Formats: sequence, structure tokens, C-alpha cells
Amino acid sequence: MAVIPVDLAGRAYEVRVGRRLLADLAGQCGPLLRKKTVPIVTDRNVAALWKDPVDRSLAAAGHEASWLAVEPGEPSKSWAALERVVDWLLVAEVERGDHILALGGGVIGDLVGFAAAVLKRGCGFIQLPTTLLAQVDSSVGGKTAINARAGKNLVGAFHQPSLVLADLDTLGTLPPRELRAGYAEVVKYGVLGDAAFFAWCEASGAALLGGDAEAREHAVAHSVAAKATIVVADERETTGQRALLNLGHTFGHALEAETGFSDRLLHGEAVALGMVLAARFSARRGLMDEADAERIAAHLAAVDLPTEIAALGLDCNGPALAAHMLHDKKMDAGALPFVLLRGIGEAFLDRSVELGEVARFLNDELG
Ligand SMILES: NC(=O)c1ccc[n+]([C@@H]2O[C@H](COP(=O)([O-])OP(=O)(O)OC[C@H]3O[C@@H](n4cnc5c(N)ncnc54)[C@H](O)[C@@H]3O)[C@@H](O)[C@H]2O)c1
Ligand SMILES: [Zn+2]
Repeated sequence: MAVIPVDLAGRAYEVRVGRRLLADLAGQCGPLLRKKTVPIVTDRNVAALWKDPVDRSLAAAGHEASWLAVEPGEPSKSWAALERVVDWLLVAEVERGDHILALGGGVIGDLVGFAAAVLKRGCGFIQLPTTLLAQVDSSVGGKTAINARAGKNLVGAFHQPSLVLADLDTLGTLPPRELRAGYAEVVKYGVLGDAAFFAWCEASGAALLGGDAEAREHAVAHSVAAKATIVVADERETTGQRALLNLGHTFGHALEAETGFSDRLLHGEAVALGMVLAARFSARRGLMDEADAERIAAHLAAVDLPTEIAALGLDCNGPALAAHMLHDKKMDAGALPFVLLRGIGEAFLDRSVELGEVARFLNDELG
């Protein structure tokens, strides 16, 4: 097991990465579980696979789980689902000193984290991430949110968990496409700040996706450590450091918006393509070598992630795609900060990119 500390003053917590963590859930949580009954929120897909093992694990330690399973998928990051979760927790008489367990992917982590942030003005929660994306990204760092009619993640709070248990065994039941999509966020840490880790991905990414336990532990622990360092330096995204985690996300967001945030393009797939676009755009501006941009594309393509915008079959032009970026929540007084690259492992924030230039670039990429 790897243990990564997130050293936030007054709210420090650990991320533990390893196997059989859910099998030892009560032991891992220790005194955080104050009562016999443990409230757990999950989604129906995860419940079908993991409710019984978690029930058995808690029962063996003298606890009893109380479950709420919401519908799987992005629509559960809604006001209606939030109300349901909060009401359920209130009826269960969860107190501020208690901990709510969030068992699932990023949807559950974001929804339950936000519910914990507002329940009785803030109570404790524990992240039990079950997707690769949630293990390497969304469960760490304290961003919680639901979606609003006007867009994704527009209503939320910063609320750090008390503990994160990334049980690698849960990745064993994850559909391969979801696993690959989460892997794009792993590669992101290499591309944005760690050329040696990108090279490790090139060498070991296929093994990780194929089920190699050691490769999985190394990738998740390394990614979490990278995120923890950034979060501790810039928890609320004020200095620009945390914004580097948005590498590939501005282009990716436009693609997700154009495809209607649907199964046509999963978030991680959009990020893979978005990273390639950020790299090619950087190369076109003379910031980075074209060969390095194509090296990023080659690795992502080798693990079957999308790297060519023309292959998506979109029915739109560059300006229409770029227009989606106007609604990006990172818009700041009329300008959209872009994460660009000077090389692999050398991301930086550029606040001077004009949307017109992006639109022309996208037109060329669309072919
Ligand atoms: N808070 C943050 O910092 C942050 C960062 C990145 C992404 N996010 C959010 O995360 C969400 C995406 O997360 P996600 O990709 O994990 O999606 P998800 O939670 O929808 O999970 C993807 C699918 O996998 C299923 N699933 C989950 N675990 C499984 C398992 N072990 N076995 C089988 N099936 C399983 C789910 O039921 C779902 O159908 C988005 O809403 C995004 O906005 C938040
Ligand atoms: Zn992401």
C-alpha cells in the first residue's frame, strides 16, 4: 500500500492506494467511524458489484452499513439528487462529527462531497473512489459540485475529505472504456509537469490497462502525489498552479459540449484529445517541438484514446467549437486562461490567447 499525505494546514488527510482496502474498511477508517451504523452513498452500478463485499467487511468489524444508491451517471449531479441525499442523511440523523462514505466514481464523490459540505454547515466524509478517474483526480483536492442548467460543475464548494481509500481491486470491475478514459488523466500528470513519468506511461501504460497490479499502484500513487503537491500549493486555484490541472480541459470541454456530454465522448477521452490539441496548438505557436506534440498523440493513440478531431465526425466548424469555450467557467473578466506547453512536462498558463486564433487552429484540425 502507498500512503500519500495531503498536507493542508488544519485539514490534513491521507490518500491510501492499494488492494483489499474495502475488505478492511472499518480498520482503515478507525475512529472516523464513531457509530455502529455507517451511512454509504453509491450508485446502482457500483452497489450491484460492491455492496455485498462492503457489507461483509463492515459486519465483520461490528458495523452495519446503511445504503443510498442513486442512478448512475452525470444526471445524478443535480439539485434533485442533492436534495435526495441530504434528506436521507437528515432522516438518518447524521451529525457534524460523523463521516459519510462516498463509494463510486467522480459523480458520487462530487455529489456526496457537496452534500457533506452543506449538511449542517459541513460534516465529514470519506472518499472511496472506484474509477481510475476518481482515484487519480476527483477524489483528491476537495472540489465538490453539482451541475446546473447553465452548465457543468457550476454549483459547489471546496470541502476536503477526511480520508481517501483508493482500492485498486475496484478497478477490476470497471468497464475497459472507463478505465482507458481515466488513464488519460494519468498521462496528463506526466505531460503537464513530469517528463520522466510520461516516459514511464509510454513504457507501462499498456500493462496498467491490461491489469498489472504493480503498474496500477505506481500510476495511481504517483498521480495522487502530483495532485496533492499542486493542491497544497494552491488549494483554491488562486495562484495559477492548480489551473495547470486543466491541461487539455479547455479544448476537451468544447468537444464535450459539442457532443452533448454524452457517451459519444467520455470526459477522459475528451481530455486525451484536448491534450493533443493543446500540444499541437503550442507547437503551431512555436512554443514546443512538433515532434514532442506528436509523441504525446502517439502514446494516447497506442492505448486507443482519441487523438484526431477529424475522426469524431462532428458537424461543426472551428468558430462554433471555440464558441463553447466562452461558457467555460474558467472565463475570467472576458479572457480565457489556456494551459499551453513548452515541452513534455512543461505546462504553463497563458492568459493572452485569443479565441479567434483558437478557432482558426480548430478549423485546420477539423480538416
Ligand atoms: N472534483 C473534482 O476535482 C473532479 C475532477 C475530475 C472530474 N470530476 C467529475 O467526475 C465525474 C466523472 O467521474 P467518473 O469518470 O468516475 O464517472 P462516474 O462516476 O459516472 O463513473 C463512470 C461509470 O462507471 C461506473 N462505475 C464506477 N465504479 C465502477 C466499478 N468499480 N466497476 C464498475 N462500474 C463502475 C459508474 O456507475 C458509471 O456508470 C464528472 O462529473 C466530473 O465533473 C470531478
Ligand atoms: Zn478531468
